[in-house]
Amino acid sequence: MLDKTSEQKVILLTGASRGIGHATVRKFSEEKWRVITCSRQAFDPKCPWPGGEENHIQVDLSNPNNTLHAIEEIKDRLNGKLHALVNNAGISPKNEKGNRLDSINTDLSIWGQVFHVNFFASVILARGLQKALVKAKGTIVNVTSIAGSRVHPFAGAAYATSKAALGALTREMANDFGPLGVRVNAIAPGEVKTAILSKGTEKIVSDIPMKRLGMPEEVADTIFYLCSEHASYVSGAEIEINGGQHV
Ligand SMILES: NC(=O)c1ccc[n+]([C@@H]2O[C@H](COP(=O)([O-])OP(=O)(O)OC[C@H]3O[C@@H](n4cnc5c(N)ncnc54)[C@H](OP(=O)(O)O)[C@@H]3O)[C@@H](O)[C@H]2O)c1
Repeated sequence: MLDKTSEQKVILLTGASRGIGHATVRKFSEEKWRVITCSRQAFDPKCPWPGGEENHIQVDLSNPNNTLHAIEEIKDRLNGKLHALVNNAGISPKNEKGNRLDSINTDLSIWGQVFHVNFFASVILARGLQKALVKAKGTIVNVTSIAGSRVHPFAGAAYATSKAALGALTREMANDFGPLGVRVNAIAPGEVKTAILSKGTEKIVSDIPMKRLGMPEEVADTIFYLCSEHASYVSGAEIEINGGQHV
């Protein structure tokens, strides 16, 4: 919480408009952080957090030029310091029947689009905002997935490989940003109740030791922990949030 003597911390969160991102904005706002949000949609006035509209940046992260342009806009809105960058935006395209796209049939242009949103945007943002992160002794959290380490019945090959790459990027960044005073970690959610889930997820739930879906708020709490002083010596980790799904 913010006391009278401490400065307000600032987080930049991608994919803030729904699901895990939405719950994360709420958590950080409650903890009195200033939250700068990014997504393709304009700010929805139904989202009632303080300063929501003026802290929202509309950007299509599948377009690297758009992402680079957004960085300039983000820098203009910072007072030089960024305490947390959370790379949460992600897409998991399916075929026209709603089934997973496998490694044989995924169109390369779709594969590229998935990598731009799920992977390259994180590289571009972290590098572009490096100075502000270093100045704040900030932290980066990359949102990977259970699908990054095992074949998943609904998530496709492009999605899985992009999340595996993001997991590897987390280690690389922890190595490179650590000497600059910036911690870098990942969280790997399992089946969390959001719009990204596919029909049939209930069948998976019966095999999860905790016998239920995760809630976006439970993921937001873990992101908050990683951005807090309580995680001051945690870097290069990938925390699974999956109710024991991979035991
Ligand atoms: N839910 C799960 O069970 C689960 C499991 C494992 C991992 N994850 C990961 O958790 C993260 C959040 O997932 P979620 O379930 O909350 O997903 P979601 O409900 O589908 O939300 C995805 C978010 O990403 C944004 N986004 C998508 N494409 C974008 C683009 N081109 N440019 C900018 N923003 C874009 C969306 O906003 P706009 O549409 O406004 O652009 C939205 O805010 C993702 O990285 C996902 O892979 C989720």
